[in-house]
Amino acid sequence: MSAQTLAAEAGGAPARLRIDLVPERSYDIVVGEGLIADAATYLRPVLTGRRVAVVSDETVAALHLPALRRALEAGGFEHHEIIVPPGEPTKDFAALERLIDDLLDARIERSDAVIAFGGGVVGDLAGFAASILRRGVAVVQMPTTLLGQVDSAVGGKTGINTRHGKNLVGTFHQPRLVLADIGVLDTLPRRHVVAGYAEVVKYGLIDDPEFFAWLEANGDAVCAGDRAAQRRAVVASCRAKARIVAADERESGSRALLNLGHTFAHAFEVEAGYGDRLLHGEAVAAGLVLAFELSARLRLCPAADVERVRRHLTAVGLPTSPGAVVGEDAAGRLLDHMAQDKKVRDGQIAFVLTRGIGKAYVDRNVDRAAVLAALDDSLARRPASTENQS
Ligand code: GLY
Repeated sequence: MSAQTLAAEAGGAPARLRIDLVPERSYDIVVGEGLIADAATYLRPVLTGRRVAVVSDETVAALHLPALRRALEAGGFEHHEIIVPPGEPTKDFAALERLIDDLLDARIERSDAVIAFGGGVVGDLAGFAASILRRGVAVVQMPTTLLGQVDSAVGGKTGINTRHGKNLVGTFHQPRLVLADIGVLDTLPRRHVVAGYAEVVKYGLIDDPEFFAWLEANGDAVCAGDRAAQRRAVVASCRAKARIVAADERESGSRALLNLGHTFAHAFEVEAGYGDRLLHGEAVAAGLVLAFELSARLRLCPAADVERVRRHLTAVGLPTSPGAVVGEDAAGRLLDHMAQDKKVRDGQIAFVLTRGIGKAYVDRNVDRAAVLAALDDSLARRPASTENQS
């Protein structure tokens, strides 16, 4: 990413990016401030009906639902509100069943829409419910966390967790619109901003070393709430994701690169029990480091790049190993969890490896012993517990 591009992204008007799929599934991502108050203006052109169900969680609803309610009422939308408990444990079959019943109780019809108003959990759960309700109703993603704005609300993946693993049950259901109001990031606890930042770093590591260098210089500002830096980070991340999703909507090839660090991360989350002990973004940070460590062990990636990644994630307060949370003896169990990964084919796990910063690729022939050894080394290091972050 050039300095000029980054400078252009710091302006005041909302940025509008396009996810270019087949015409009926293409949509815009709008990034800016004050978008919630203006929601009706953005919704009107993309929704056929004027009835919506807003799905949110208790935390987001308390902070931001009044503003969205006012906007919908003023804009002539009839709306229902469905509030779910916050946190990853809500992404399960029981919560999905309750949500579907609530949507049916509200008589949400095919011509109505679901608005997913929250973080990754609400986006994945509400998106999934919308995709199966009456065989599919429209969904609009209004992500209120950094993680949602840079990753999970964009690209149409929906899903829930089961005891077998993360997001093992779900659908592809592209939203009609993604409305990312960066003004709400001010109310997000720092630990959650920092966790979402791991997904921002991921884009630099996949194929944009210039963006990673920009993050090394500006990551602190992004995590500390600097509006211009956050806007640049969200726009750059959405642009990268839009490009990758447009090239491979259903992950038959290059979209798998977006899972850099995630095969490890999902296993850490299963092992840690989907709770507050390890947030998704924290698991991703440790997973990114492990992907680099494994690549270095396989002599693919320079040790200096591994060190650069570790140093940057540590500098913003992210964990670089899950050891403090999952325990030093977890390597075998983690490998078992990874065997349930969605990208496993004929029992062979697909890893996103790297030849260095910005040089990620998918490898289906990674030696199991090397993975176990990399896990063992990482777990033994036990650096950076997440417990002291507020
Ligand atoms: N979060 C990975 C993807 O959307 O493909």
